[in-house]
Amino acid sequence: MLPEVTPLNPKSTNFVAKVEGISLSEPQTSETVEALFNALDTFAVLVFPNQVLTDEQHIRFSRYFGDLELATGDYMKQDDRRLQMELNDISNLDRTGGKMEAADPKRLFSLGNMLWHSDSSFKAIPAQYSILSAKIIPATEGDTEFADMRAAWRALDEKTQQKCLGQVTRHSQLYSRGELGFTEFREDQQEAMVPVRQALVRRHPRTKNSSLYLSAHAGLIEGWTVPESRIFLKRLAEHATQREFVYRHKWSVNDLVIWDNQATMHRAMGYDNKEVRDMRRTTIAGVTSSLEEMPA
Ligand code: OGA
Ligand code: MN
Repeated sequence: MLPEVTPLNPKSTNFVAKVEGISLSEPQTSETVEALFNALDTFAVLVFPNQVLTDEQHIRFSRYFGDLELATGDYMKQDDRRLQMELNDISNLDRTGGKMEAADPKRLFSLGNMLWHSDSSFKAIPAQYSILSAKIIPATEGDTEFADMRAAWRALDEKTQQKCLGQVTRHSQLYSRGELGFTEFREDQQEAMVPVRQALVRRHPRTKNSSLYLSAHAGLIEGWTVPESRIFLKRLAEHATQREFVYRHKWSVNDLVIWDNQATMHRAMGYDNKEVRDMRRTTIAGVTSSLEEMPA
């Protein structure tokens, strides 16, 4: 039986859907996987309620979408990991499962997720999809917002679209973390954060739809001054994250959400560190640079 896909977002019939009638803990048929890819092409964000998964099942399901990134961007946690390398640890827990102190640099660094971003846009070949599973959630807070970057592109006026086309941006965690006040990095960390080149407008490899490719990691437009780059990128991000393009997900335990980083941005809304939030994410590696996807 094919999964049942229903639009979930009152603001849009083609951004965010709920998927039911499928158990992600089981192996999937190629028909189901194709149906999920097609649903992602249309909706860009899929919410699967009530999916109780072990880490191994989460990883096995993720591999249907492509090769997995290893959680190396998460460099603050490298020496002290709670989860295996295929899983990004989106929690306020330390290696022993105890809650991190509020002032723990690892927790503070992870607040970068509260800036609008696209996962791994700081990698030369950025991520395609992210798959996040909610294990423990705070009583009221900890929502995640998603913005539709295809709709944002379509809604730009012609003049601004022309200004964007052909532009190459540079992305690095130095920019995004710099915005949070992290400015001191060891030399090896700086080397790991050398800016990479990305297209400002990209065409999706499957759907061929154009979208704005923005992220908190973007800090420069090539050939522009830094201040002019920053102002223009900020203006574009303000446009793209207007409420009409945004869906806010209120998590339930065992929700699994897949989003397409090639067509969306997202941000964490945050929560009180008195509470525990345990979320785990796999990330599907990209196969080409966004520079290969620039509209002609
Ligand atoms: C992520 C992320 C947002 C959140 O997992 O990539 O940005 O709300 N998460 O935890
Ligand atoms: Mn993220």
